[in-house]
Amino acid sequence: MTRGSTHWRIHRFIFSAIVFLIFAANAVNGEDGYRLWLRYDQLPSPERNVYRSQIKSLVVPGQSPTLDIIRRELSDGLQGLLGTAVPMSDSIDSDGALVVVTINSTLAAGLKWKNQIKASGAEGFQIRIEKLNRHFVTVIASETEIGSLHGAFYFLRLLQTLKPIARLNVNEQPRLQLRMLDHWDNLDGTIERGYAGQSLWNWSELPAINPRLRDYARANASLGINGAVLNNVNADAKILSAEYLRKVAALADCFRPYGIRVYLSPRFSAPIDLGGLQTADPLATEVIAWWKQKADEIYGLIPDFGGFLVKANSEGQPGPRTYNRTHADGANMLAAAVAPHHGVVIWRAFVYDMKPDYDRAGAAYEELQPFDGKFAANVLLQIKNGPIDFQPREPFHPLFGAMPKTQVIPELQITQEYLGFSNHLVFLASMWREFLDSDTYARGAGSTVTRVADGSLYHQKITGLAGVANTGTDRNWTGHHFLQANWYAFGRLAWNPNLSAQQIADEWIAMTLTRDRNSSQAIARIMIESHEEVVDYMTPLGLHHLFWGGHHYGPAPWWTREKRDDWNPVYFHRADKTGIGFDRGPSGSNTVAQYHAPLRELFGKLDSCPEKFLLWFHHVPWDYRMRSGRTLWDEMALHYQRGVHWVRATRKRWESMKAAIDDERHEAVARRLAIQERDAIAWRDACLLYFQIFSKRPLPAGVEKPAKTLEEYKAKSLLDN
Ligand code: GCU
Repeated sequence: MTRGSTHWRIHRFIFSAIVFLIFAANAVNGEDGYRLWLRYDQLPSPERNVYRSQIKSLVVPGQSPTLDIIRRELSDGLQGLLGTAVPMSDSIDSDGALVVVTINSTLAAGLKWKNQIKASGAEGFQIRIEKLNRHFVTVIASETEIGSLHGAFYFLRLLQTLKPIARLNVNEQPRLQLRMLDHWDNLDGTIERGYAGQSLWNWSELPAINPRLRDYARANASLGINGAVLNNVNADAKILSAEYLRKVAALADCFRPYGIRVYLSPRFSAPIDLGGLQTADPLATEVIAWWKQKADEIYGLIPDFGGFLVKANSEGQPGPRTYNRTHADGANMLAAAVAPHHGVVIWRAFVYDMKPDYDRAGAAYEELQPFDGKFAANVLLQIKNGPIDFQPREPFHPLFGAMPKTQVIPELQITQEYLGFSNHLVFLASMWREFLDSDTYARGAGSTVTRVADGSLYHQKITGLAGVANTGTDRNWTGHHFLQANWYAFGRLAWNPNLSAQQIADEWIAMTLTRDRNSSQAIARIMIESHEEVVDYMTPLGLHHLFWGGHHYGPAPWWTREKRDDWNPVYFHRADKTGIGFDRGPSGSNTVAQYHAPLRELFGKLDSCPEKFLLWFHHVPWDYRMRSGRTLWDEMALHYQRGVHWVRATRKRWESMKAAIDDERHEAVARRLAIQERDAIAWRDACLLYFQIFSKRPLPAGVEKPAKTLEEYKAKSLLDN
């Protein structure tokens, strides 16, 4: 045997050992997505070494469940990120301590910036480099322990995203007060419109707490989410029974140290269903008394209970209209029951009674706007971002900016009911940015939805943002690894509705997926582009609600089988031989008049309407000349094709990043992208083949021949394939 070959064997042995170790480390870490954006794996060496020299010890004085959480988070986080344990200390005895204090603690006595800390509010915090006990230390300071917890997560995020920490001067405070996830979870463990497994609330085991619930709370706390509505808005009255309230109380106890309050969706008819009363009329004395007693019972168990989220007289749910009372009567009666306990009532604006010849998009405005100023001080009106129902793209709901004397809270849908479930990669921050930046013109230019929501336009006292959750029992929480980014984005925007989609994507990628520079940039691009492209292959140019009945997955523009007209795609697209689109202008339903000037003119005229909303507001001839010079038909077809091209190109881009992403998540995402391509093709073909019946025009050059016939697409939904 030659020396050379011995060397070669040694090399081969070392190489195999390294490969084995890397493999084993990955296997132990389990890159299954469970850790979300709180992964805390070791940072790259130059930064790691700098941070090590800056963080020498950890000082978190005091005893409480929240302080324990802060200590654990910081010590685990720092150990993971820095690759070495940071010693915990009771006192500041060297430079480089990381000190977490609340304003009243002894250690905070020497701080000269207490007023600023107070100004950050109960949930905000400040981080500064400060000389304390003769040592230069990093101080995370807040009025409350929850503020400190938010500060601790913020500090860890700085490290996770490789930001400098030498000269920190941070003043963070949430811009919105109620930052809440609405869970549409049923008591049988299923989730309405949930695509990531079953409900996280293990009702049959509760009040025993499953450890995963703490991880849920921890993930929310890392973003500053401070509320969770536990049950579906299509509510089961049983949630208010003594048996279930004990279970709810256990969840509240579990979430409390993380700064999260629980809320419930009551069924409006609960006084009948549970209480045995004859009526649920909100003005009946016995009904008022029943709710008051129920509220007292709830607060007896859960002193910091947040309040009620109510879906009433909508899609078959009972409500005050059942008794010829108004929405304000219903909301105010419940509000009076929780007011002594400082609870709120969040009343949903998703109401649309079907009337002959009406326009569903205008229904909520007609029904609720007249009640501006009639709701009690602890009522918020929760309005979906758009006037129909969480479509891939909608103009903002005209109620934003139209109720100056009412507290409003936008409702977003994080779960992708109309956006490909957990199969399609769509980064919703771009869509939410478009919504939040929409100018309502309610008080002239600059009256954006953000300014309506954050109270700066109308000085509303209680503000917030709600998102219908996309979480479930799937190991990676959200089904598709990338859709964790939507949970993340929701939380970040609820904290600061001015953050850019780019910043949110960059943070999430660095914390969750990869720090490889080229791949990170490419992934961020994919995420930022994704919403526009999904709109391209599903509902371009203002089309909406073209979905297969019931489950809303996949295209069915031909659909007429739902029992209500306004649940059928044909009601919305109105394609005929003259053209396509819903005329909401003066010659049609004129619900465009619900918007403030100059929007009503801008949207209302064909030539000034933004093309992305064209078919939302207008019925447009097939040969109408678009700004590109192409006909509407050609333009529409090319949008569909562009969406398909994008998914194909994205699959290739994802393939090229294989080296930068762990195998487990890379493969899982690749598998879903393949489904997304299949679906995008089906959307393009099914919609174009169907609309072609009316347009009677050929597909323009550049649009591929359909993969199947219209009859084949009609025969089976994509879900059944
Ligand atoms: C949509 C969705 C329903 C849901 C409703 C709501 O219509 O399909 O499942 O209950 O919105 O927001 O209340």
